[in-house]
Amino acid sequence: MTNLIEIRDVRHSYQTQSGPLPVLDGLNVTVPTGGFCAVVGPSGCGKSTLTRLIAGLMKPDQGEVWLHGERVTGPRNTVGMAFQNPVLLEWRTILQNVVLPLEIVPTKLSRKQQEDRARYLLALVGLSGFEDKRPSELSGGMRQRASLCRALVHQPEVLILDEPFGALDAFTREDLWQTMHRVKEKEPFTGVLITHDLRESIFLADQVIVLSGRPARTQFVLDVPDTGPRDLDHLYTAQAAEMLHVLRHQIEIAQGRAAA
Ligand SMILES: Nc1ncnc2c1ncn2[C@@H]1O[C@H](COP(=O)(O)OP(=O)(O)OP(=O)(O)O)[C@@H](O)[C@H]1O
Ligand SMILES: [Mg+2]
Repeated sequence: MTNLIEIRDVRHSYQTQSGPLPVLDGLNVTVPTGGFCAVVGPSGCGKSTLTRLIAGLMKPDQGEVWLHGERVTGPRNTVGMAFQNPVLLEWRTILQNVVLPLEIVPTKLSRKQQEDRARYLLALVGLSGFEDKRPSELSGGMRQRASLCRALVHQPEVLILDEPFGALDAFTREDLWQTMHRVKEKEPFTGVLITHDLRESIFLADQVIVLSGRPARTQFVLDVPDTGPRDLDHLYTAQAAEMLHVLRHQIEIAQGRAAA
Protein backbone atom coordinates (compact mmCIF):
# COMPACT_ATOMS: atom_id res chain seq x y z
CA MET A 1 0.00 0.00 0.00
CA THR A 2 1.46 3.39 -0.97
CA ASN A 3 0.99 6.54 1.05
CA LEU A 4 -1.60 8.91 -0.32
CA ILE A 5 -1.00 11.69 2.20
CA GLU A 6 2.40 12.57 3.60
CA ILE A 7 2.98 15.54 5.83
CA ARG A 8 6.62 15.92 6.71
CA ASP A 9 7.82 18.07 9.56
CA VAL A 10 5.40 20.91 8.82
CA ARG A 11 5.78 24.19 10.69
CA HIS A 12 3.44 27.12 10.29
CA SER A 13 2.67 30.47 11.94
CA TYR A 14 -0.19 32.86 11.27
CA GLN A 15 0.65 36.54 11.04
CA THR A 16 -1.51 38.37 13.55
CA GLN A 17 -1.68 41.99 14.71
CA SER A 18 0.31 41.04 17.81
CA GLY A 19 2.99 39.20 15.78
CA PRO A 20 3.44 35.68 14.46
CA LEU A 21 1.34 32.97 16.11
CA PRO A 22 3.10 29.58 15.81
CA VAL A 23 0.38 26.98 15.18
CA LEU A 24 2.13 23.90 13.82
CA ASP A 25 5.59 22.87 14.94
CA GLY A 26 6.78 19.49 13.78
CA LEU A 27 3.69 17.88 12.32
CA ASN A 28 4.10 14.46 10.71
CA VAL A 29 1.15 12.55 9.29
CA THR A 30 1.18 9.57 6.94
CA VAL A 31 -2.02 8.07 5.57
CA PRO A 32 -1.88 5.08 3.21
CA THR A 33 -4.20 4.90 0.20
CA GLY A 34 -7.62 3.84 1.46
CA GLY A 35 -6.66 4.59 5.07
CA PHE A 36 -8.79 6.54 7.49
CA CYS A 37 -6.95 8.82 9.88
CA ALA A 38 -8.59 10.60 12.80
CA VAL A 39 -6.93 13.67 14.30
CA VAL A 40 -7.68 14.69 17.86
CA GLY A 41 -6.15 17.40 20.01
CA PRO A 42 -6.96 20.35 22.26
CA SER A 43 -9.23 23.09 20.94
CA GLY A 44 -7.31 25.67 18.92
CA CYS A 45 -4.21 23.50 18.50
CA GLY A 46 -4.21 23.63 14.69
CA LYS A 47 -6.45 20.79 13.43
CA SER A 48 -8.42 22.86 10.92
CA THR A 49 -5.13 24.42 9.81
CA LEU A 50 -3.95 20.90 8.99
CA THR A 51 -7.03 20.32 6.78
CA ARG A 52 -6.31 23.56 4.87
CA LEU A 53 -2.76 22.39 4.21
CA ILE A 54 -3.92 19.02 2.85
CA ALA A 55 -6.53 20.73 0.63
CA GLY A 56 -3.83 23.07 -0.69
CA LEU A 57 -5.69 26.15 0.53
CA MET A 58 -2.56 27.22 2.42
CA LYS A 59 1.17 26.60 2.14
CA PRO A 60 3.23 25.77 5.24
CA ASP A 61 6.13 28.01 6.22
CA GLN A 62 8.36 24.95 6.43
CA GLY A 63 8.06 21.26 5.69
CA GLU A 64 6.21 19.46 2.93
CA VAL A 65 2.73 18.22 2.14
CA TRP A 66 2.47 15.44 -0.46
CA LEU A 67 -0.63 13.96 -2.02
CA HIS A 68 -0.29 10.91 -4.20
CA GLY A 69 3.42 11.49 -4.74
CA GLU A 70 2.93 15.13 -5.78
CA ARG A 71 3.89 18.08 -3.66
CA VAL A 72 0.84 20.17 -2.80
CA THR A 73 1.32 23.76 -3.96
CA GLY A 74 -2.27 24.93 -4.50
CA PRO A 75 -5.94 23.92 -4.22
CA ARG A 76 -6.79 20.49 -5.62
CA ASN A 77 -10.07 19.17 -6.89
CA THR A 78 -9.19 15.62 -5.82
CA VAL A 79 -10.12 16.61 -2.28
CA GLY A 80 -13.66 16.63 -0.87
CA MET A 81 -14.48 18.47 2.36
CA ALA A 82 -17.35 18.42 4.84
CA PHE A 83 -17.62 20.58 7.94
CA GLN A 84 -19.53 20.85 11.21
CA ASN A 85 -21.91 23.33 9.59
CA PRO A 86 -23.10 21.75 6.32
CA VAL A 87 -23.64 25.16 4.57
CA LEU A 88 -26.14 23.94 1.99
CA LEU A 89 -27.63 26.56 -0.33
CA GLU A 90 -31.26 27.20 0.56
CA TRP A 91 -32.26 28.29 -2.95
CA ARG A 92 -31.21 24.90 -4.33
CA THR A 93 -32.88 21.55 -3.77
CA ILE A 94 -30.94 18.80 -1.98
CA LEU A 95 -30.18 17.16 -5.34
CA GLN A 96 -28.95 20.47 -6.79
CA ASN A 97 -26.78 21.03 -3.71
CA VAL A 98 -25.16 17.61 -4.10
CA VAL A 99 -24.51 18.16 -7.83
CA LEU A 100 -22.90 21.58 -7.21
CA PRO A 101 -19.20 20.47 -7.15
CA LEU A 102 -19.69 18.86 -10.59
CA GLU A 103 -20.69 22.28 -11.91
CA ILE A 104 -17.41 23.70 -10.62
CA VAL A 105 -14.92 20.86 -11.19
CA PRO A 106 -14.56 19.89 -14.88
CA THR A 107 -16.41 16.60 -15.53
CA LYS A 108 -17.21 14.45 -18.54
CA LEU A 109 -20.55 13.47 -17.02
CA SER A 110 -23.74 14.60 -18.76
CA ARG A 111 -26.33 16.46 -16.71
CA LYS A 112 -28.35 13.24 -16.42
CA GLN A 113 -25.29 11.25 -15.28
CA GLN A 114 -24.47 13.94 -12.69
CA GLU A 115 -27.97 13.74 -11.26
CA ASP A 116 -27.93 9.94 -11.32
CA ARG A 117 -24.72 9.97 -9.32
CA ALA A 118 -26.19 12.41 -6.79
CA ARG A 119 -29.32 10.23 -6.48
CA TYR A 120 -27.17 7.13 -5.97
CA LEU A 121 -25.21 8.80 -3.17
CA LEU A 122 -28.34 10.17 -1.52
CA ALA A 123 -29.80 6.64 -1.55
CA LEU A 124 -26.57 5.29 -0.05
CA VAL A 125 -26.90 7.61 2.97
CA GLY A 126 -30.64 6.97 3.38
CA LEU A 127 -31.98 10.16 1.78
CA SER A 128 -33.99 8.69 -1.11
CA GLY A 129 -37.19 10.69 -1.49
CA PHE A 130 -35.61 13.94 -0.23
CA GLU A 131 -33.94 14.95 -3.50
CA ASP A 132 -36.39 17.78 -4.21
CA LYS A 133 -36.60 19.16 -0.66
CA ARG A 134 -34.90 22.38 0.42
CA PRO A 135 -32.17 22.22 3.13
CA SER A 136 -34.45 23.87 5.72
CA GLU A 137 -36.93 20.99 5.31
CA LEU A 138 -34.33 18.48 6.57
CA SER A 139 -33.15 17.67 10.10
CA GLY A 140 -29.56 18.46 11.15
CA GLY A 141 -28.51 14.83 10.69
CA MET A 142 -30.12 14.70 7.22
CA ARG A 143 -28.38 17.93 6.19
CA GLN A 144 -25.07 16.44 7.28
CA ARG A 145 -25.79 13.32 5.19
CA ALA A 146 -26.48 15.54 2.18
CA SER A 147 -23.28 17.47 2.83
CA LEU A 148 -21.38 14.16 2.84
CA CYS A 149 -22.88 13.29 -0.57
CA ARG A 150 -21.82 16.70 -1.90
CA ALA A 151 -18.26 16.12 -0.66
CA LEU A 152 -18.16 12.72 -2.41
CA VAL A 153 -19.97 13.51 -5.66
CA HIS A 154 -16.79 14.17 -7.70
CA GLN A 155 -15.16 10.96 -6.39
CA PRO A 156 -12.39 12.71 -4.47
CA GLU A 157 -9.27 10.75 -3.58
CA VAL A 158 -9.23 12.36 -0.17
CA LEU A 159 -12.23 13.11 2.00
CA ILE A 160 -11.58 15.63 4.76
CA LEU A 161 -14.14 15.79 7.52
CA ASP A 162 -13.72 18.63 10.02
CA GLU A 163 -15.89 17.78 13.03
CA PRO A 164 -18.77 16.79 10.74
CA PHE A 165 -20.88 15.22 13.48
CA GLY A 166 -20.00 17.64 16.29
CA ALA A 167 -23.33 19.46 16.29
CA LEU A 168 -25.50 16.32 16.26
CA ASP A 169 -27.09 14.49 19.19
CA ALA A 170 -25.41 11.26 20.32
CA PHE A 171 -27.85 8.83 18.64
CA THR A 172 -27.87 10.66 15.30
CA ARG A 173 -24.10 10.77 15.47
CA GLU A 174 -23.88 7.01 15.98
CA ASP A 175 -26.23 6.49 13.03
CA LEU A 176 -23.93 8.60 10.88
CA TRP A 177 -20.86 6.66 12.00
CA GLN A 178 -22.50 3.51 10.66
CA THR A 179 -23.45 5.33 7.46
CA MET A 180 -19.81 6.34 7.05
CA HIS A 181 -18.70 2.71 7.14
CA ARG A 182 -21.34 1.82 4.53
CA VAL A 183 -20.28 4.72 2.30
CA LYS A 184 -16.58 3.90 2.53
CA GLU A 185 -17.26 0.32 1.51
CA LYS A 186 -19.12 1.42 -1.67
CA GLU A 187 -17.21 4.62 -2.43
CA PRO A 188 -13.60 4.04 -1.38
CA PHE A 189 -11.70 7.14 -0.29
CA THR A 190 -8.75 8.05 1.89
CA GLY A 191 -10.12 9.84 4.93
CA VAL A 192 -8.95 12.48 7.39
CA LEU A 193 -11.39 13.09 10.21
CA ILE A 194 -10.98 15.91 12.72
CA THR A 195 -12.95 15.15 15.85
CA HIS A 196 -13.20 15.83 19.57
CA ASP A 197 -14.98 12.53 20.13
CA LEU A 198 -12.56 9.73 21.04
CA ARG A 199 -15.23 7.02 20.55
CA GLU A 200 -15.85 8.38 17.06
CA SER A 201 -12.14 8.29 16.32
CA ILE A 202 -11.68 4.60 17.17
CA PHE A 203 -14.99 3.59 15.57
CA LEU A 204 -14.23 5.19 12.21
CA ALA A 205 -10.47 5.38 11.83
CA ASP A 206 -7.66 2.88 11.51
CA GLN A 207 -5.15 5.41 12.86
CA VAL A 208 -5.69 8.09 15.50
CA ILE A 209 -3.21 10.96 15.71
CA VAL A 210 -3.08 13.01 18.89
CA LEU A 211 -1.75 16.54 18.42
CA SER A 212 -0.07 18.39 21.25
CA GLY A 213 -1.31 21.78 22.41
CA ARG A 214 -0.45 24.78 20.22
CA PRO A 215 1.96 24.90 18.49
CA ALA A 216 0.94 21.38 17.53
CA ARG A 217 3.26 18.52 16.80
CA THR A 218 2.40 14.87 16.31
CA GLN A 219 2.40 13.75 19.93
CA PHE A 220 1.07 10.20 19.67
CA VAL A 221 -0.18 7.76 17.04
CA LEU A 222 -2.57 4.94 17.88
CA ASP A 223 -3.12 2.14 15.37
CA VAL A 224 -6.63 0.76 15.66
CA PRO A 225 -6.48 -3.00 15.05
CA ASP A 226 -8.46 -4.27 12.07
CA THR A 227 -10.99 -6.60 13.65
CA GLY A 228 -13.26 -6.86 10.60
CA PRO A 229 -16.54 -4.99 10.06
CA ARG A 230 -17.22 -2.67 12.98
CA ASP A 231 -20.55 -2.25 14.69
CA LEU A 232 -21.42 -0.20 17.74
CA ASP A 233 -20.90 -3.22 20.03
CA HIS A 234 -17.19 -2.89 19.29
CA LEU A 235 -17.20 0.27 21.40
CA TYR A 236 -18.11 -1.75 24.48
CA THR A 237 -15.24 -4.26 24.30
CA ALA A 238 -12.26 -4.35 26.66
CA GLN A 239 -10.01 -3.53 23.67
CA ALA A 240 -12.01 -0.35 22.93
CA ALA A 241 -11.95 0.66 26.61
CA GLU A 242 -8.17 0.29 26.65
CA MET A 243 -7.75 2.40 23.49
CA LEU A 244 -10.04 5.11 24.87
CA HIS A 245 -8.08 5.11 28.10
CA VAL A 246 -4.78 5.57 26.26
CA LEU A 247 -6.21 8.38 24.09
CA ARG A 248 -7.79 10.14 27.08
CA HIS A 249 -4.41 10.13 28.82
CA GLN A 250 -2.71 11.52 25.70
CA ILE A 251 -5.27 14.33 25.48
CA GLU A 252 -4.60 15.20 29.11
CA ILE A 253 -0.89 15.41 28.31
CA ALA A 254 -1.68 17.62 25.29
CA GLN A 255 -3.77 19.86 27.52
CA GLY A 256 -0.92 20.08 30.03
CA ARG A 257 -3.05 18.38 32.69
CA ALA A 258 -0.94 15.20 32.95
CA ALA A 259 2.78 14.48 32.78
CA ALA A 260 4.08 12.64 29.72
N1 LIG B 1 -6.40 32.93 9.42
C1 LIG B 1 -5.91 32.98 10.67
N2 LIG B 1 -5.21 34.06 11.10
C2 LIG B 1 -4.71 34.12 12.35
N3 LIG B 1 -4.85 33.14 13.26
C3 LIG B 1 -5.54 32.04 12.91
C4 LIG B 1 -6.11 31.91 11.59
N4 LIG B 1 -6.75 30.72 11.53
C5 LIG B 1 -6.58 30.13 12.74
N5 LIG B 1 -5.86 30.93 13.56
C6 LIG B 1 -5.43 30.60 14.93
O1 LIG B 1 -4.63 29.44 14.84
C7 LIG B 1 -4.91 28.55 15.91
C8 LIG B 1 -5.30 27.20 15.34
O2 LIG B 1 -6.54 27.33 14.65
P1 LIG B 1 -7.31 26.07 14.07
O3 LIG B 1 -8.61 26.55 13.55
O4 LIG B 1 -6.42 25.32 13.16
O5 LIG B 1 -7.53 25.20 15.42
P2 LIG B 1 -8.41 23.90 15.68
O6 LIG B 1 -7.50 22.88 16.30
O7 LIG B 1 -9.12 23.51 14.45
O8 LIG B 1 -9.43 24.42 16.78
P3 LIG B 1 -10.91 23.86 17.16
O9 LIG B 1 -10.68 22.56 17.85
O10 LIG B 1 -11.44 24.88 18.10
O11 LIG B 1 -11.68 23.75 15.88
C9 LIG B 1 -5.98 29.21 16.75
O12 LIG B 1 -5.35 29.83 17.84
C10 LIG B 1 -6.60 30.25 15.83
O13 LIG B 1 -7.01 31.38 16.56
MG1 LIG C 1 -11.15 23.43 13.93
